[in-house]
Amino acid sequence: MEKDNTITKKDHEKILEFVLTKKDEINVDLPIVKGYDFNKGIDFEKIMKKYLYQGFQSTNLGLAIKEINKMLHWRLSDEPIPKDEEGELADPEFRKTVKCTIFLGFTSNMISSGTRELLRFIVQHNLVSAIVTTGGGIEEDIMKCFSPTYHGDFELKGNLMRKKGLNRIGNLIIPNKNYCEFEDWLLPILGKMLKEQKEDGVKWTPSKMIHRLGLEINNEESVWYWAAKNNIPVYSPAITDGSIGDMLYFFSYNNPGLVLDVVEDVIAINKLSAAAHKRGMIIIGGGLVKHHICNANLMGGGADFSVYINTAIHYDGSDAGATPDEAVSWGKIHHKAKPVKIFCEATLVLPLIVAETFAKYVHKQKKLLKNTNEKEENKENKKENKEEKVKKENNKEKKFDNIHSSLIDYLSTKNKEEEEEEEEN
Ligand SMILES: NC(=O)c1ccc[n+]([C@@H]2O[C@H](COP(=O)([O-])OP(=O)(O)OC[C@H]3O[C@@H](n4cnc5c(N)ncnc54)[C@H](O)[C@@H]3O)[C@@H](O)[C@H]2O)c1
Repeated sequence: MEKDNTITKKDHEKILEFVLTKKDEINVDLPIVKGYDFNKGIDFEKIMKKYLYQGFQSTNLGLAIKEINKMLHWRLSDEPIPKDEEGELADPEFRKTVKCTIFLGFTSNMISSGTRELLRFIVQHNLVSAIVTTGGGIEEDIMKCFSPTYHGDFELKGNLMRKKGLNRIGNLIIPNKNYCEFEDWLLPILGKMLKEQKEDGVKWTPSKMIHRLGLEINNEESVWYWAAKNNIPVYSPAITDGSIGDMLYFFSYNNPGLVLDVVEDVIAINKLSAAAHKRGMIIIGGGLVKHHICNANLMGGGADFSVYINTAIHYDGSDAGATPDEAVSWGKIHHKAKPVKIFCEATLVLPLIVAETFAKYVHKQKKLLKNTNEKEENKENKKENKEEKVKKENNKEKKFDNIHSSLIDYLSTKNKEEEEEEEEN
């Protein structure tokens, strides 16, 4: 017999109930999802502002920009002076000069690609306190001072390239010739370093070696030149894992004895974190650079501001993919912090991030300096209006700070029906 599938009015009401469940209004003040309207013309400032409101990774990009700006603008004077504070730390004027200690980390390929120029800008303007990178990043910055890296293709065949003496990094090409030039430049410097170690008792560490390479290259295009000039320490505990390692091996065959002490460097980076009043970390890519910075931040009680940018996922248990919350469990990020991870390929977002943070910071300071003596009333009025607008925008953005906890609170509150049901039982 055929089944009767007739739907009664009562059935229909039940189905509607299944599909629509409760119809409560959300009574949490949440930001609204909205993108840019191109009917208003093409205004990159406004397009950038909308990233925060678009959802998915673009919201994470917006949040990362906010987080980096917090690192850049924080001053000790933002915090109340503890009653028992003594010496210069009790002086409000001195407190205005104490900044957040910012750790910047990036994988070697960030130097292979054009993001090198963005990183150079940050270092040139002395906007971070310490850098961690891997060996490839050290050598390729120097190599680019002699010869360029070229565009290729992700699909170029390895055997054909090998025959031509070309090496591939993704869709970039570095000719073997570039490594030969680097070798010719580096070997005499290694000779001088060995001599100084033997004769003057210099104790070399990877960071001291990178400082020396920055001074020797003496080229304003180089990230390490600016790091040396601004005395920004560059830590690279695995500096030997790349061409520099090959050179050290070849060099040591005829000139044995050069030592690089990684212990002195790990002590230095940990001390920097422990002594900081506020800690921020910007980590581009994963692996060594990510863990080394996170671990140093543990020594200071955890990072207060954190931004991760990487493509790695957490379900394989890798450190590269570990979420910021995993770092909270280890004490590497402070439990009160609001860390951000952008899941994406870094070259896509770094120009936008630098434009909205470091570059704006530098250019605003330059402008401020220029305007110090110009007091035009009109301009002031306009500025006030703009400040009001910015204040309004900041208030709107503040809603993002507590989305998760407000929603958890909201979702855990019982609605009327649930309360009635409980009372009946
Ligand atoms: N140009 C080079 O990449 C190069 C050159 C010479 C030697 N090496 C050596 O290779 C070793 C491994 O390199 P590494 O530790 O610098 O990092 P890696 O290239 O192994 O990357 C580590 C992780 O970072 C993330 N990541 C990398 N590139 C990214 C990107 N563009 N966008 C978003 N996420 C990204 C990925 O999750 C990746 O698994 C190092 O010891 C390094 O010295 C690298």
